[in-house]
Amino acid sequence: MGTDTNERQTTKAAFVQLNRYELELQNSELRQSKDALETVLENYTELYDFAPVGYCTLDREGTIRRVNLIGAILLGESCEKLKDLNLSLFISDDCEPGFNEMLATAFDYPQQKAHCEVVIHPKGLRSPTPVHIVAIASATSDECLVVILDITERKRLEAEILAENVKLDLRLARERADELQALNKQLVQESQFRKGLETRLLDSQRRLRNLSAHLQSVREEERKSIAREIHDELGQLLASIQFGVSLLASEYSDQQTLVAKTSEMKIVIGEGIKTVQRISSKLRPAMLDVLGLPDALEWQSQEFQKRTGISCKISVFLFEDNVDTDVATALFRIFQESLTNVQRHSKATTVEAQLVQRRRNYTLSVRDNGRGITVKEIASPLSIGLIGIRERAFIIGGCAKIFGAPEQGTTLLVRVPLKPKEDHYVR
Ligand SMILES: Nc1ncnc2c1ncn2[C@@H]1O[C@H](COP(=O)(O)OP(=O)(O)O)[C@@H](O)[C@H]1O
Ligand SMILES: [Mg+2]
Repeated sequence: MGTDTNERQTTKAAFVQLNRYELELQNSELRQSKDALETVLENYTELYDFAPVGYCTLDREGTIRRVNLIGAILLGESCEKLKDLNLSLFISDDCEPGFNEMLATAFDYPQQKAHCEVVIHPKGLRSPTPVHIVAIASATSDECLVVILDITERKRLEAEILAENVKLDLRLARERADELQALNKQLVQESQFRKGLETRLLDSQRRLRNLSAHLQSVREEERKSIAREIHDELGQLLASIQFGVSLLASEYSDQQTLVAKTSEMKIVIGEGIKTVQRISSKLRPAMLDVLGLPDALEWQSQEFQKRTGISCKISVFLFEDNVDTDVATALFRIFQESLTNVQRHSKATTVEAQLVQRRRNYTLSVRDNGRGITVKEIASPLSIGLIGIRERAFIIGGCAKIFGAPEQGTTLLVRVPLKPKEDHYVR
């Protein structure tokens, strides 16, 4: 029994001893951990306090829980006095909404950076300072670490660059304005020069048109007078020779040879009279002056058909007979020129023409079924006949158009006023 008790006591003492050793070991481990933690805390505090940027720890309302030295310097107050103050007290009024929004975002998205730029008003004499703020909220506590960076220098540089840019822009704008002004001046000069040229060109065009109109009317008058002279003088002469020869033949009817000769002469004289009539009507058909435009056109059309074998029909619809002489002459000559063109260029077999009087105009159309005039031929400056047609119409205040289609024929359309506009081209 005694031995048992002794053994139990010895075992207990050994157990206690073991426990003590264990405790001492744990104690020393704990001490080491504590030392290590203290070193980390010291390092962190040092880093926090002496970091080259402002640090502060805020709660959800923006109340400062902790601030480092640079943060305190930026806010112009000691670390102790800043504790429990709200950071927004130092932020300019107009920047406050932006700051509050950034803080709310930081707490809504923990461990993510939220940014804003604000102006702070430090306590004391220091002037307002622009700062860049970065906030990162902790995932576990209700705190948020805020980094405050003084961006005065950056702002100053930005302002300087902006001012330089504005100066540069101004200089460029001034240079561009000078350039534009010079260009404008040149343009004005050029435009004046062109205007001068244009006026001179218009003037010379007007004079040419006047000249052309004058020449045409002179030509027409001359043709009229030559036609009349040939018809009246020469025709009269031939008629009296014919009469004399007839008298001679009847007086010496017993002289066979003379009678034979005189009848030969009468045939030749008759031919001469016809030739005179043909030449004078070619120069100026008497019908145009005596019977009027419709008959003259009809005569011209029949004469054309007889001469060329190309079928030619003209229909005239006028509600007044007295067509103005200048208008009648123009229309007649245009008709003549278009028929000549049909004969010379078209290879047509038929021509259909129409003259219609409308309320204010006459329209003349001449259509053939030939090869069709081309656009190039219409526009060619060498198409003197077509230019003449247009000019004749233009001179009395009208216009002429010509168009064709391959193998579909050519159409000429002329529209002229009932009375010529005398001052149409004389401005
Ligand atoms: N009726 C027509 N059919 C086909 N071609 C035509 C016709 N009228 C005119 N042309 C073409 O237009 C050209 C110009 O006509 P125009 O000015 O009267 O000059 P010209 O008769 O002296 O050749 C003609 O050379 C001809 O090639
Ligand atoms: Mg011609």
